[in-house]
Amino acid sequence: MGSSDVKARLKDGTGVVLVPVSPCDRQCILDGFEQLSDRSRYSRYHMPMRTLPDDYVDCLTGADNYNSVVVACHLDQEGARVGIGLARYVRLQEEPGVAEFSVTVVDAYQNQGLGTLLLEYLIQHARDNQVSLLRGYVLPGNEAMIGVLQRYAVCKRNESDGTVCYELDPSAARCKDKVVG
Ligand SMILES: CC(C)(COP(=O)(O)OP(=O)(O)OC[C@H]1O[C@@H](n2cnc3c(N)ncnc32)[C@H](O)[C@@H]1OP(=O)(O)O)[C@@H](O)C(=O)NCCC(=O)NCCS
Repeated sequence: MGSSDVKARLKDGTGVVLVPVSPCDRQCILDGFEQLSDRSRYSRYHMPMRTLPDDYVDCLTGADNYNSVVVACHLDQEGARVGIGLARYVRLQEEPGVAEFSVTVVDAYQNQGLGTLLLEYLIQHARDNQVSLLRGYVLPGNEAMIGVLQRYAVCKRNESDGTVCYELDPSAARCKDKVVG
C-alpha cells in the first residue's frame, strides 16, 4: 500500500482500499463504468452516457494530485484490482481555492457507505492542499448523493440549469455520523 492509501470496511463488512488513481487503473475505470446503470450514469453526468470518452479517461488517470485529484476504491483482495468507486475534484483555474467534485459508486456497492468514504477522502485531501471550497452539482432527485451531503454542513442553491449546487468548506467539514470503519 502507498502512504496515501486508506483501508476501510463497508457496512456489510466488505474490505476496500482507497488509492490515488494511476495510469494502471485505466481498465478498472472502464470496467467500472460498464457496471453503472443508465440511472447512475445520468445522475453522475446529467445526460445519457454510453461510453467514457478516451480523453476523459486520460484526464482521470493523469491527475496531478493537486489541481486534479482522483481516488479509486478497489476491493481489498489479492490479485486483480476490481474498481467499485471513483471520486474526483478539479481545481478551478479562475478560482484556485475552489474545486468541483463528483463521486461515483457502481450500483452493486451503493448504500454501503462507500460514497461517504470517497467524499471524506476528497475533503481530507482538499484540507491538506489549500482548497477552501468544494462545490458539487447534483440533480434534485438524487437522494443518495443528497443523503451523503446531508452528513455535512453544506450551503446549497438552485442553479438555472435545474441542478442544485452544494458547497462545503473542507476545513470545517466534519462528518456528523461514523458510517463505516
Ligand atoms: C451518489 C452515490 C455516490 C452515493 O454513494 P453510496 O455509496 O450509495 O452512498 P452512502 O452509502 O455513503 O450514503 C448514501 C446515503 O443516502 C441514503 N439514500 C440512498 N438512497 C436514498 C433514497 N432514495 N432516499 C433517501 N435516502 C437515500 C442512504 O440510505 C445513505 O444514508 P444512510 O447511510 O444514512 O442510510 C452513488 O449512489 C452513486 O454513485 N450514484 C450515481 C452517480 C451519482 O449520482 N453521483 C453524484 C454526482 S456528484
